[in-house]
Amino acid sequence: MTVVSAVSTIEEAMRTRRSCRAFLPTPVPREQVERLLAMAARSASNSNSQPWQVHVLTGAAKRALTADLLCAHDEGRRVDVGEFPYQPAADAWPEPFRSRRRSFGQSLYGEALGLAPDDTAGRLGHHRRNYDFFGAPVGLVLTVSRRPLQGALVDAGLFLQGLMLAARGAGLHTCAEASFIDYYPVLRRHLTIPDDHVVVCGIALGHADETHRLSTHRTSREPVESFARFYDAAVAPQAEPV
Ligand SMILES: Cc1cc2nc3c(=O)[nH]c(=O)nc-3n(C[C@H](O)[C@H](O)[C@H](O)COP(=O)(O)O)c2cc1C
Repeated sequence: MTVVSAVSTIEEAMRTRRSCRAFLPTPVPREQVERLLAMAARSASNSNSQPWQVHVLTGAAKRALTADLLCAHDEGRRVDVGEFPYQPAADAWPEPFRSRRRSFGQSLYGEALGLAPDDTAGRLGHHRRNYDFFGAPVGLVLTVSRRPLQGALVDAGLFLQGLMLAARGAGLHTCAEASFIDYYPVLRRHLTIPDDHVVVCGIALGHADETHRLSTHRTSREPVESFARFYDAAVAPQAEPV
């Protein structure tokens, strides 16, 4: 039996949200998914433009998409350039993001999964699980209007966070998955994505498998003083750049 422990405050939802990479097969009823999407749609967006669309996959539809994605993955049909530039090439990340990315990889693959740095097959095996939505019973694909894209992506990010927190409120877990962008032509074959939309990411949704070795994996954060500046005493503003 799945034990569902919903969280009751925003703070608890934010504290307990994590990228879950091991789910139980326990189904999530369609009405519940609809409620979560309705809550996520309360997110703010530029002039209330709500530029997002969500494709919800379960059952045979999800299995068929996963099979095709894995086939494309195994045949090396990864697209080099996605529909929008989501991230730099692995060796092109600037500091300090490069170091943070490296320590995230070490904590996930090394400490949590127990894989050696040169265990390419093991790492690939874990990466493939992205395309099965890490075993979640519900797979979502988030798309956003490209008119204009950069602003809409801000709104899509808010929608994504809203959905992930709403899921915590219902005792569920999620994982955002940009790995789906690499195979967007496959997604376009399975889903009715309008031409003027781009794929933002996949999202796994379901009940966490708390017995899985990845269930205790947590990520760290930089302290507030490293990214926030507080302005208090009045200072003479600097001259405007010419
Ligand atoms: C837009 C977006 C895309 C992501 N794509 C993936 C992905 O493809 N596969 C994956 O395992 N995690 C993915 N993640 C999860 C991040 O690795 C994770 O959020 C980060 O390491 C912080 O960990 P936490 O979410 O557990 O706090 C993604 C997160 C975001 C926000």
